[in-house]
Parts: sequence; structure tokens; C-alpha cells
Amino acid sequence: MTESLKVGVAGLGTVGAALIAQIVRERAMLAERCGRGIEVVAVCARARNKDRGVDLRKMKWFDDPIALAMAPGIDVFVELMGGAGNPAKAAVEAALASGKAVVTANKALLAKHGVRLAALAEKHKVALNFEAAVAGAIPIVRTVREEFAGNTIERIYGILNGTCNYILTRMEQEGLAFDECLKDAQRLGYAEADPSFDIEGHDTAQKLAILSSLAFGTKVDESAIYVEGISSIQPADIAAADELGYRVKLLGVAVRTAKGVEQRVHPTMVRKDSAIAQVMGVTNAVTIDPRGINPITLIGPGAGGMATAASVLSDVADVARGMRLPPFGRPVARLNGTSKAPMQRHEGGYYIRLLARDKPGTAAAIATRLAEQEISLESIVQRHPKGASEAETKSGAVPVILITYATTEDAVRKALAAVGRDRVISGRPQVIRIEKN
Ligand code: HSE
Repeated sequence: MTESLKVGVAGLGTVGAALIAQIVRERAMLAERCGRGIEVVAVCARARNKDRGVDLRKMKWFDDPIALAMAPGIDVFVELMGGAGNPAKAAVEAALASGKAVVTANKALLAKHGVRLAALAEKHKVALNFEAAVAGAIPIVRTVREEFAGNTIERIYGILNGTCNYILTRMEQEGLAFDECLKDAQRLGYAEADPSFDIEGHDTAQKLAILSSLAFGTKVDESAIYVEGISSIQPADIAAADELGYRVKLLGVAVRTAKGVEQRVHPTMVRKDSAIAQVMGVTNAVTIDPRGINPITLIGPGAGGMATAASVLSDVADVARGMRLPPFGRPVARLNGTSKAPMQRHEGGYYIRLLARDKPGTAAAIATRLAEQEISLESIVQRHPKGASEAETKSGAVPVILITYATTEDAVRKALAAVGRDRVISGRPQVIRIEKN
């Protein structure tokens, strides 16, 4: 049998510890499947003496991840430190430059520096694998990069943040307010240290940037994504969505349009009977919409030690098997540039919740303004939905829920601005995009 693959792991949190345990536990099976053994020979973390539930005694200890990344005797550098900057960036660069394969779960690093790192991997003819960076245990990087090598992908979208899906699920199932659900998510350890990274959509955007590059052959570029989080979602929206046959999900969506790839993260209404609408709690899901084939949805755990370690190990196993693919599915020189698609151009259906003043002519004024923008309504509900806030109830205003047929964001914004000038509504209208699925 070929000599075993020597692995160095930087970062010994829950994922790093789970990875080491799994490599030990599945030693025989890994050797059979990869044609050679896999062994962790060196590790690096901040605290040397912490009990992580794994035996590190036979592994060489490094205090400096860059020294580990360049250490002779290491074939693969596994980066599990996280963060777009140093030391993760410098360590990954050092490993690639010294001819070592790199496996990373670091979405932030890839979303910001993915193209440069892929070029470095290409230059040194080594693998740069990152299955765990998007949707934890769901094998979505591989699926998009390899399974659909010969298919045009029209759209890819997903629930890529467990914290947001947990919050929206509890708001729906228990009628709770956003803040209460966020507190529980933090208490249960789902939310990132800074919860705004999750709830304002940035975590989803980083993952979408990676998926979009794989699906459309564009340069990974987080700054090209329109991002809107879920903190404005009210129980009234969730209740109205439910009555109208929808659920609210935070989706990352990348879609091929005539004018380029539109990448966006925002709360989205999805039909209750769609596959993505069935995904509850912290679970993640990604739907791939290939040309000429019905959409394919992959559902599974998006985070957690063992789940993420499974994807990291699959990447290490690919290196052991001698597989090396262009990180983003095609050589860096073949990746196209991408720019931020203006949301005004976005086309689709819209959910609009207005608080209409209870006086004659209000409905007519709203209808007129929508008609002026050629917006056609699929449904209009004017009654007190479950979940209206106390302030809404007391204001004497009537919640009006509109569902439009496909129109443009520009038309919706113009119509609502005109409705505002007409002084027939109170407060700001709530607008949620509907995703066809
Ligand atoms: N905070 C992330 C989530 C963890 O909630 O999904 C995985 O990136």
C-alpha cells in the first residue's frame, strides 16, 4: 500500500476534535476506500492543555499555524481556525506555496480571497478543497462542481444559515417574536459570536458567493451580493404567509439572467408545498435548478462538529486518492467577472403588507398606484391577520396584504412611494420577495 497521507490540523474546536476522532475511528475503512492510510501527525491550537476528548500525544504540537502549514512531513494542511484574515489566510497561503494540499471549512476566507487562493493552488499544482465551507455536511460543493459539470445551472438557492431558519421556524410554529427566538438561538449556541453576522444575512452571503462561483463560473465575490437579513420580519408576516400558502425563509439565491448572474440574500416567501419550505429548525438545504431537469434539493445539517468534520474528511480523502480539481470548477483564468445586480431590476412576485388608514378611498388609492406601475395582483387580503402587533391593533389602521404577480422591484418601490405620498397608510410597508419554486 502507498505511504499514508500525513495531515496537519490547525484549529482544534469541535470540528477539529471530531475530525481527529473520526480519522482514528474509521482508520481501516478510510485506508480501503482511499488506497492508503490517513493519519493526523501534527496539530496546532491556541491552548495546548485543554481536554478535547481526543488523544493528541502522538501528534507534533505547533503553536504557530504558519509553521505547521510549512512543516516538512505534512501532505495536507487542514485549516479550521476560521476568519478571513490572519492567521488563517497567511497559513493557507504558506501551505499552498510550499506545495501542500489545503482543506478548509473557512467560508469567510474563501468568499474574500477565494480567487487568489485558487490561483495559488493552481500555480503549485495542489488541491484546495472546501466542502465544509458551505452547508456543513451537505455535499453541495462536490455536487455542483462535479455532478453538474455538463449541465447548465439556471438557478441555485438555499437555506444556508441554521440560526435564521431556527428563528423563522419558531416564529411560525409558536407565534413568537423575533427577539425571543434569537435569544434562544444564542443560548443554544447556534448563532455566531456576533449574531448580526447570521441574522443580517452575511453568513448566508459568504456561502452563496462560493456556490455562485461554482454554479456559474464567476469569480467568487461577496461584495456582488445584495444582502438583507430577517430582523424586520414580524409575526404578522409569518401569519399572513401561512394563510396565503407560503412560508418565510432566509434564502441565498443566485440566478442566471440575460444581464448576468443575480446574487441576493433576503427573506423570501416560498410556497408551502415546495421542498425548501419543508426545511425546519437549524437544518440547511440547497436547491439546484439545472436546465431541462427538475430541481434537485439536498437537505441536511449545516453545522456541528461531526457534521462539518464529515465534509472536511471527505476533502482529505479526495487528496489521499490523488484527486485534484480546479477549486471553483474551472481554471481561475476561465472564471468570469461578476458585478452587483441592481435590485431595481429584480423580477418576481411580491408580498406587501401595508397598514391602511381606515377611511374611504384608501383601497382605491392603493389600487391606482399599483395599476400605474402595471402591477397585477394575485390576491388581496384586508382583514386582521393573526399576529398583528398591539400597536397595529390600536392604531385603527387595517392591515392589507397584497400578493403581486411577477413585476419588477422598481415598479413596487415606485408604487409604494406614491402610496406613501398619498397618506393613506401608516408606517413603512413591509415587502418580501416571493421565490418561484
Ligand atoms: N452560524 C452558522 C449557522 C453556522 O447558523 O448556520 C454555520 O456556518
